[in-house]
Amino acid sequence: MVRAFSHQWPPIIQGGMGVAISHWPLARAVSLAGQLGVVSGTGIDTVLLRRLQDGDVGGHIRRAFAASPWPDLANKILSRYFRPSGRLPDQPYMRLPLWNLESNYWQSALAMLGGFAEVWLAKFDHPGQVGINLLTKVALPNLAVLYGAMHAKVDVVLMGAGIPREIPGALDLLASNKPAALRCDVVGLSPAQSPWIRFDPTSYETISQAPLKRPAFFPIISSYSLALVMSKKATGAIQGFVIEGPTAGGHNAPPRGAKQLDSSGQPVYKERDVVDLKAVAALGYPFWLAGGYGFSGALEVARAQGAAGIQVGTLFAYSEESGMAADLKQQVLTAVCAGFASVRTDPLASPTGYPFKVVDMENTLSTTAVYKARQRVCDLGYLREAYSNAQGDVSFRCPAEPIANYVEKGGRLEDTVGRKCLCNALMASAGIPQHQSDGTVEPVIVTSGDAIAHIQDLLPPGCNSYSAKEVIDYLTKGL
Ligand SMILES: Cc1cc2nc3c(=O)[nH]c(=O)nc-3n(C[C@H](O)[C@H](O)[C@H](O)COP(=O)(O)O)c2cc1C
Repeated sequence: MVRAFSHQWPPIIQGGMGVAISHWPLARAVSLAGQLGVVSGTGIDTVLLRRLQDGDVGGHIRRAFAASPWPDLANKILSRYFRPSGRLPDQPYMRLPLWNLESNYWQSALAMLGGFAEVWLAKFDHPGQVGINLLTKVALPNLAVLYGAMHAKVDVVLMGAGIPREIPGALDLLASNKPAALRCDVVGLSPAQSPWIRFDPTSYETISQAPLKRPAFFPIISSYSLALVMSKKATGAIQGFVIEGPTAGGHNAPPRGAKQLDSSGQPVYKERDVVDLKAVAALGYPFWLAGGYGFSGALEVARAQGAAGIQVGTLFAYSEESGMAADLKQQVLTAVCAGFASVRTDPLASPTGYPFKVVDMENTLSTTAVYKARQRVCDLGYLREAYSNAQGDVSFRCPAEPIANYVEKGGRLEDTVGRKCLCNALMASAGIPQHQSDGTVEPVIVTSGDAIAHIQDLLPPGCNSYSAKEVIDYLTKGL
């Protein structure tokens, strides 16, 4: 069975890369080149807040705010958070309260306007298509970000790191400007006992209540069973899949079955982790293959397996337009050129418990010395898990927070081992690190796919940068 879709999707999806690696300039460049550019919506409220405190260089946020359907709210946010002359070099960024179930009005407003601004800037003044990527696990801000992005006419929503079963129905409701809700996964509570994460668009005064375009939804999956769940049991329609393998940058799905590590401490993936593409194809949706498809000729390889195209992250992460801090980007490119860039799958680093890819680099949180020297603090809290506390209330904890706090909240000591504060480290990789009150600057962590060496094909001798357009030309060479 092949489902009839009127929409023509591009063969290349530039993968969503948080935090702010796939920011709007990258998605815009990809979209202008005729492919699907994807902005990251993860942590976008903090990203927006930090950009405003850094003086909104180039005036882009103010430009987007001026076009937003919430002009009063946008002005209030500017008067609260915008610092025209930026911060002093060591000045800490202002912080927002951590997200919780009774989401704070300002936090949701920043998430909503952040989602709006990022997509609006990526789509401004051209007809190309733009998607937004969110992590299912970072559930609390997602509805606000999605609603903002929908006001900027986002074309596709792409979500992995969990089972985004309730998102399609939420998109249907938000498109009609109606309140939407997601079940909050709570350790210690059954789904039926779990509370709702709610977002009500009518809490914010909008200049128009006209129905919004309902974006397409592409769940990012790593097994046929997940594809089946999403096609049969989602709360609304999906329009395609991204099928991501364990060589991809960022978080990876854990291997199926009992956890097994190789001699270097990396998870072992086996035959049963390979997705049955024929079975997925039989569901009738277009699909894109992700993870190790960033090489010339990969499109033909993917199409030969029935795919509509490929999703690529790593090659774009080091392009001129990506949001990675310039010095880090250069360090990795130099290492790639010298042939010694290496990537490892860290089974412990992420508070989510999912394996996470790290580039081995000095002076980053992936080294033991930097990890040990960092004072544990949880001041962003996106990756915290909800749990039912001794009083029967829902509370939040993170295995990367100060160990005593985590254990006091009922967390297991062994779960804190090797856990890294990805929230702070990924903000730092995007060039917006927190300056803590003890004078330290949050260290960075760099994530990439295993096939980082393919970057070499884009870097002729003596050349130390390449554009997103060059990545696309490389991927489509000879087609
Ligand atoms: C720096 C970086 C950050 C990433 N962050 C995310 C993310 O926030 N959400 C997500 O769904 N995928 C994320 N990914 C995965 C990409 O979207 C994409 O699927 C993957 O990179 C494709 O495989 P490749 O790395 O071999 O090109 C990230 C990848 C990289 C390289």
